[in-house]
Amino acid sequence: MKVSLIVAVGENFEIGKNNDLLWHLPKDMRFFTQTTKGHYVIMGRKNWDSIPLKYRPLSGRDNVVVSRKMNLELEGAIVVSTIEEGIELARAKGDTEVFIIGGGQIYSEALRLDLIDKMYITKVHANFDADTFFPDFEMNNWIEESIEHFEADEKNTFSFSISKFSRKVN
Ligand SMILES: NC(=O)c1ccc[n+]([C@@H]2O[C@H](COP(=O)([O-])OP(=O)(O)OC[C@H]3O[C@@H](n4cnc5c(N)ncnc54)[C@H](OP(=O)(O)O)[C@@H]3O)[C@@H](O)[C@H]2O)c1
Repeated sequence: MKVSLIVAVGENFEIGKNNDLLWHLPKDMRFFTQTTKGHYVIMGRKNWDSIPLKYRPLSGRDNVVVSRKMNLELEGAIVVSTIEEGIELARAKGDTEVFIIGGGQIYSEALRLDLIDKMYITKVHANFDADTFFPDFEMNNWIEESIEHFEADEKNTFSFSISKFSRKVN
């Protein structure tokens, strides 16, 4: 089973502010949905809280929430106490690719623990005022493959590019 991470970042690796996203990009949201559909998605408790009720749990995916709160119960999600526990759950259920979907704390932890094989990164070509960022990572450890570039239009107010990063095999 592959362990993947999926994120959208601004030019300065901004990812959120006030527990919300920084942009509205339906085309990128479609990419996120298509890529993660049918898989386990693992998210931090704050990310779960930030998802509007009508979209929660994320449909067509097994939602797993990481929290240190003992006995937390969330309707529509499985609560685990570590990212690794979430990954093992997906593996035990036979998933082929599990997705770490943020937010900032969970991305940092997953990269720090070297849990990630592949990253899907949308780079939004603008700067944003943010309070949450994607962590620094060592570019030399990854092979970048461009997927697609999207120009801004009336519904997608910023241009953006999607790349896939595969971890180099040592
Ligand atoms: N641009 C993007 O692609 C993207 C994607 C996702 C989210 N976001 C944004 O990111 C922001 C949220 O990120 P965040 O960093 O504030 O929070 P987060 O990573 O979503 O969640 C943090 C919470 O996860 C739990 N947690 C963290 N580390 C843990 C560990 N080692 N073991 C067990 N539980 C752990 C804790 O929950 P408890 O407090 O319950 O213990 C912690 O409060 C929002 O602004 C959201 O919109 C952006």
